[in-house]
Amino acid sequence: MKVITLNDEIMIGQVIGDRFCALLQENPSAVLGLATGASPIPTYQCTISRFKAGDVSFAKAHTFNLDEYCDLPAAHPQSYRSFMHTQLFSHIDIDPQNTHLLDGNASDETAECSRFDALVEQLGGVDLQLLGIGRNGHIGFNEPADTFTQGSFKVQLAPSTLEANSSYFVGERMPTHALTMGVGAILRAKEIVLVATGASKAEAVKAMVQGKITPQLPASALQNHPNVTIYLDPAAASLLQ
Ligand code: F6R
Repeated sequence: MKVITLNDEIMIGQVIGDRFCALLQENPSAVLGLATGASPIPTYQCTISRFKAGDVSFAKAHTFNLDEYCDLPAAHPQSYRSFMHTQLFSHIDIDPQNTHLLDGNASDETAECSRFDALVEQLGGVDLQLLGIGRNGHIGFNEPADTFTQGSFKVQLAPSTLEANSSYFVGERMPTHALTMGVGAILRAKEIVLVATGASKAEAVKAMVQGKITPQLPASALQNHPNVTIYLDPAAASLLQ
């Protein structure tokens, strides 16, 4: 894995946003793997600027998101569907039909996960996957566990994830479960870029890059992927030797 430390999250967003645009210029039908949370926002802002400048089109692209909360209406402002609409989709020319998220309200969650995984395969797999990392080393919502999961599945969110994301749910109950792509599916992406910024990510970053590969630190599985670049700010990189 390649590890690159840049000055701040804005510079990281520019480099990754430019990578997304270069991929789409080369392959307008590319399949993009997307994340939510704070980490990808500068990347989306860069991508939107490049779109507005006329440098890139998403008209033929498909996107797949890593995860979605269970039992939260898709129209809820904190659903990942809403996040993606607000932070990216409503600003670019992507066809809404080509934006794929797991349905966290599906009555048959197993069937929903199989549908989603089959669609990724049908479209040729993810060309470029954007990831953040949780303070506990999660990617997507693959929380520390005894085994790595392959396909999409329903997960109970870990206490540290509930704590980290509770600020988005002021005055209301936060969902306790989510549907997420499995680590195995994430690793099938042809190229992966991961963003980590801030001191709260430093321990997880050190374990991901220099620790042993273990499902107790799900991001450590990225060490097995042939084309991963980790983008850090100085605080997130501070514990690396
Ligand atoms: C979100 C996701 C999560 C986040 C992680 C970091 O789709 O997959 O793994 O990337 O929780 O979140 P932030 O960026 O908010 O620190």
